Amino acid sequence: MEAIGGYLRQLIDLNPHFIFVKDRQGRYTFVNAACAHLFNTTPDQLVGKTDADVGLNPEEVASFRRDDLEVMETLREKLIPLEVITNANGEVRYLQTIKRAVVDADGVARFVLGIATDITAQKKAEDARRALEAQMLHVQKLDSLGLLAGGIAHDFNNLLVGVLTNADVALRKLGAGSPAAGSIEQIRVAAMRAAELCHQMLAYTGRGDVTVEVVDLDDIVRELAQLMRASVHKSALVRTELAARLPRIAGDPTQLRQVVMNLITNASDALGGLPGSIAVSTGVRELTAEDLEGDCTKQRPPPGRYAHVEVTDTGCGMSPETIARMFDPFFTTKISGRGLGLAAVLGIVRSHRGAILVRSAPGKGTTCGVHLPVSEPLAAAAPAAAAVPVPVRDRAILVIDDEPIVLGAVREILELEGYAVTTAHGGHEGIELYRRRATDFAGVLLDVTMPGLGGAEVVRELRMIRPDVRVILMSGYERTRPVLDEPAHGFLQKPFRSEDLLHAVAKLLA
Ligand SMILES: Nc1ncnc2c1ncn2[C@@H]1O[C@H](COP(=O)(O)OP(=O)(O)OP(=O)(O)O)[C@@H](O)[C@H]1O
Ligand SMILES: [Mg+2]
Repeated sequence: MEAIGGYLRQLIDLNPHFIFVKDRQGRYTFVNAACAHLFNTTPDQLVGKTDADVGLNPEEVASFRRDDLEVMETLREKLIPLEVITNANGEVRYLQTIKRAVVDADGVARFVLGIATDITAQKKAEDARRALEAQMLHVQKLDSLGLLAGGIAHDFNNLLVGVLTNADVALRKLGAGSPAAGSIEQIRVAAMRAAELCHQMLAYTGRGDVTVEVVDLDDIVRELAQLMRASVHKSALVRTELAARLPRIAGDPTQLRQVVMNLITNASDALGGLPGSIAVSTGVRELTAEDLEGDCTKQRPPPGRYAHVEVTDTGCGMSPETIARMFDPFFTTKISGRGLGLAAVLGIVRSHRGAILVRSAPGKGTTCGVHLPVSEPLAAAAPAAAAVPVPVRDRAILVIDDEPIVLGAVREILELEGYAVTTAHGGHEGIELYRRRATDFAGVLLDVTMPGLGGAEVVRELRMIRPDVRVILMSGYERTRPVLDEPAHGFLQKPFRSEDLLHAVAKLLA
């Protein structure tokens, strides 16, 4: 190629796009300054060399070469919308390139002209936007699954109250010696299992309604590790490494127990009956934004001090694909798995504003860490105001629920025990009844989650009518915070067994 005039050369060198000419052997015969700069060299040094000479990735070199030859053969322009170019240091750039044949007077193309634009910044921004979009879709999907799971679990709980309590009533009526007793006991066991499933689903929905207490994670782990040793395989060694003087956190102890239990169960499953170990450790760590990037709750809690429970197993480990889906409800790789264990963990950790960090690789075991923010020391919970003893006139109870099955079942059990039961369908009816006959009732059993007038409002109304009203709350959901502000004399998690109900009522009237 003949030399180019100085002025023209200057213009071409000023052009920020990469401009180059190559011959049929793939050697650069001309490059502008920007192009040479891309390879950390000068135009003089680049001319005469091939892409392979400057240490580009061999696969990429082959593809550049194919395009160059195609253009020189066909004489047709070629636009390559996205070209990846990796230099000798492994740095990747993205280019958008147009190639054109440089045709001689005899109609033959001996050179190819290329003009490439560096679109690395756009490509990265686009990738980031896509990732964010995918993450948002994921969060939306989980949200709607949560709504669904919560709705189903709530309705199920009410049905289960009916199943459980009626099974209890039948057993009582038949007597333990009846030939049907065994079958009814089986109904009870199955219903309790279904109740546990509901419980996991509700935990997943992470309604943010946690009872807040000062929790010592060490206590929880100590107690559970002991308990779990009995249920994991004999060949698995369960070790605990507890941090001394772990800062307390604010949380719901029942839910956190469930978290630790689900993690240990998974660790035990991962060992699959083969010898191995499960280490459960606690500690406190300063987590940076970088540490929290891999947080599986996708809530990105702020950097700070976090207390953790970590469960490490030497089991089968997980592929990246499994890790990506492990927290999805109903995702399981086990024959008898339900895929709810980690979904529940996720919900609970989310409502505690914590983070979950997972390390795992196939054959390399797994570490699941649950990190919970260390809060300012909570003011010690105010001792419950000493209950004013109520003169118990009789054993009359008012039951308020919107679900006829629940009303019927509760009435039946209480009446069998000699209580006088009045039922009210919904909050309005309940308040009305109480207004007229407040002094007739020794206590009230009240559902927290009713459509229309909710439990919290009903409690307030009842208390206005009679300040010393004694109330037991019932709910299929976890205890709800607004109601917690209203001190109650008992709480029954639906579905409950008749023993639980009778126990709570006896305590209320004691
Ligand atoms: N410690 C672990 N080691 C290997 N794989 C794990 C581990 N923990 C979870 N997984 C993977 O994540 C999946 C989902 O776990 P999750 O606890 O939600 O459901 P599950 O254990 O399959 O069923 P469930 O807990 O409802 O009985 C598991 O099926 C398994 O593939
Ligand atoms: Mg599990």
